[in-house]
Amino acid sequence: DKGTYPFYMLKEIDEQPNVMRKLSQVYLNDAGDPIINDDLLTALKAADRLYIVAAGTSYHAGLVGAKLFESLANVPTEVHVSSEFAYNQPLLSSHPFFIFLTQSGETADSREVLLNVNDQHFPSLTITNVPNSTLSREATYTLLLHAGPEIAVASTKAYTAQIALQAILAKALGVAVDQPAATAFDVKQQLALVANGMQSLVDEKATFEKIAKGALLNTPNAFYIGRGFDYAVSLETALKLKEISYVQAEGFASGELKHGTIALIEKDTPVIGIITQKNTAGLTRSNLQEVAARGAKTVTIVTDSLAKDGDTVILPTVDERLTALLSVVPGQLLAYYTSLNKGLDVDKPRNLAKSVTVE
Ligand code: F6R
Repeated sequence: DKGTYPFYMLKEIDEQPNVMRKLSQVYLNDAGDPIINDDLLTALKAADRLYIVAAGTSYHAGLVGAKLFESLANVPTEVHVSSEFAYNQPLLSSHPFFIFLTQSGETADSREVLLNVNDQHFPSLTITNVPNSTLSREATYTLLLHAGPEIAVASTKAYTAQIALQAILAKALGVAVDQPAATAFDVKQQLALVANGMQSLVDEKATFEKIAKGALLNTPNAFYIGRGFDYAVSLETALKLKEISYVQAEGFASGELKHGTIALIEKDTPVIGIITQKNTAGLTRSNLQEVAARGAKTVTIVTDSLAKDGDTVILPTVDERLTALLSVVPGQLLAYYTSLNKGLDVDKPRNLAKSVTVE
């Protein structure tokens, strides 16, 4: 039931702080140590490479997850779109472990890969929001997202839940293989900071509605740019805008703009820059100046500790590996308010279904 909310999507965006707290309760003990099944950890430790397979928004959560597994557990990790992997399987390492990210647990493209993986007798984990779903039943292991039912077609809380749970799993694996980065990473404290930060963002709805009206409501196209974790979030925020507001939007690696896309920049083209990573903040700022000089309307979403005068949206500072959990929220709200102010059916965009059970 959506209660007093006009659309499920807004309710689900608002639920994200509590989803973070719930995952912390379920998967971390009082000391902050992960509670992960021993057999699953043993299977992960035995892998020489992780393969994350998913579609759409879940694929975007996988792009963030791969960076978490590599930085915390020091294990090479690849991310693949399931519909591609299914019929064009790349060469695999000698001991692969597969992680399927799927909110519904029913996505046909991802299931096709799991069936192939099972035929090859490789171990697998499904991370899903739906207990007893098909991909949950058919994988070796399952971890549940505990995000509560996600009704809106555009996925929001499942994306942030998938990232938070991958962070917990990467911490668990990293500790199990004695990685100092994992031992030093206080995931419990960080998720608590994230939950509070999300709350402060969702409490600023009027601000995001104003930005959406000023920059996105009357544009045929829009660009999101960033580097590293911020690039991964750019892809997701562009997808949110496309699917519910029908604005043609693209997420770009900031450095790639000048290799072609900058030709599309005209007067008032919106370019939204996400800046949460210290090592690339200056580079993305220069890229934003380049497009501003060509007439773009720039919007910046920046971590507090990296912010400068004139930035549009300030995000509370958290561990640099978890900034996706905060930087995506303005993108979700900008998409929501663009769709709402166009008078569209936010929860049921045209041509889309919540669970895609055909290939
Ligand atoms: C986007 C969206 C889709 C799904 C994709 C995968 O907002 O909802 O891109 O993320 O269809 O679905 P699941 O995660 O159920 O496998």
